[in-house]
Amino acid sequence: MRGVSRRRLFGYSGATLAAGAAAGAGLISVARAGDDHGSADEEAVPFHGAHQAGIATPVQDRLHFAAFDVVTDDRDRLVRMLKEWTAAAAAFTGGHPYGSAAGGLGEAPPDDTGEALGLPPARLTLTIGFGPTLFDKDGKDRFGLKAKRPAALIDLPHFPGDNLDPAGSGGDICVQACADDPQVAVHAIRNLARIGFGVVSVRWSQLGFGKTSSTTPDRQTPRNMFGFKDGTRNIAGTDTKALEEHVWASAADGPSWMAGGSYVVARRIRMHIETWDRTSLQEQQDTFGRTKGEGNAYGAEREHDPVPLDKLPADSHVRLAHPDSNGGVRILRRGYSFTDGTDGLGRLDAGLFFIAYQRDPRKQFVPLQNRLAASDHMNEYVQHVGSGIWACPPGVRKGGYWGDGLFS
Ligand code: HEM
Repeated sequence: MRGVSRRRLFGYSGATLAAGAAAGAGLISVARAGDDHGSADEEAVPFHGAHQAGIATPVQDRLHFAAFDVVTDDRDRLVRMLKEWTAAAAAFTGGHPYGSAAGGLGEAPPDDTGEALGLPPARLTLTIGFGPTLFDKDGKDRFGLKAKRPAALIDLPHFPGDNLDPAGSGGDICVQACADDPQVAVHAIRNLARIGFGVVSVRWSQLGFGKTSSTTPDRQTPRNMFGFKDGTRNIAGTDTKALEEHVWASAADGPSWMAGGSYVVARRIRMHIETWDRTSLQEQQDTFGRTKGEGNAYGAEREHDPVPLDKLPADSHVRLAHPDSNGGVRILRRGYSFTDGTDGLGRLDAGLFFIAYQRDPRKQFVPLQNRLAASDHMNEYVQHVGSGIWACPPGVRKGGYWGDGLFS
């Protein structure tokens, strides 16, 4: 059976909606039962599965990434919220509101805030992760989870050049919302925050546009705010072997609740684009070891040709980040550009919200970033100002909920 789209649901009578207003998820099944021609599914990414969507999924155009702090010590309340979040996430990613958006009881605020009514699913994915502080905050085991903390979920070390804002870093839980329509992504985060009122509060969040890495190498490579193609040599979402090897945690890696999951590292990287824009083309290209137009590596002709490392400047980003310089280490990059107004000094507050998924950050992000932080020529033009790490559990099975393996 096909799901009813937000567009179609908007057309339903108030009476139909009121019938289900009291029971959010119930409304969805009422509405579903009445629909057999919905068009939503064509743009919907399945929510349930072995792995969470939003990792290997072809990168959508827009991002709303939110980090939450848990504000209660009540484990049962947290689990109840995660169950409700799961039902809501399944609805949103299917293109449905969660509960009544426009036809509920006049005396109460609607269950769903409504700004996504009429919009298709826009390939929305919602990916959840659990941060180190959920397991152990200032030595306190608030939810009895300490023993279940994976060894790979480390507190990230300080890297040379870091200038991190504590208020824009960390978080007990993260949710990455990606969609081809920013309104759909923002709606999802807004409603999760609303559902979680009293249990979680938003610590910080980041909007992103213009994906800076693709997981679809056969399509045109997107460009970042430096104007360079980004994601040329990323892990493809269809490369099952590379995903198993570098992205999905296995049962042998650590706790069983993480088997099939992945670890995400996010970094808010400010780009000093005014300085960059006054830099010569030669210097810009030397910074990466690739040309700006075609994106070919120095010593190679086409963008996707193998990279002859010895032809690239020793301190170029691509030479330093290449697997052959790092004992074969690879990560799945899924970042977005951001421009958050100006900084009061006449400069754009712009950059790259770096997102990388991996099987074990101790062996992947940390050594890679140590090498880049120490020697990357690009450091003249960037500064890391926000940071976070989270353990993203495997996908939700039908009837399960986000984090069920962790909390069971
Ligand atoms: C503002 C920050 C950054 C910018 C503008 C940037 C830009 C780029 C560009 C243009 C490429 C070449 C195209 C490609 O293969 O994708 C690249 C490659 C790469 N970057 Fe970055 N990057 C940034 C930060 C990082 C960070 C923090 C890491 C990891 C810690 C990283 C890891 C990589 C890797 C692994 C590659 C592929 C190297 C290869 O296999 O040839 N990048 N980056």
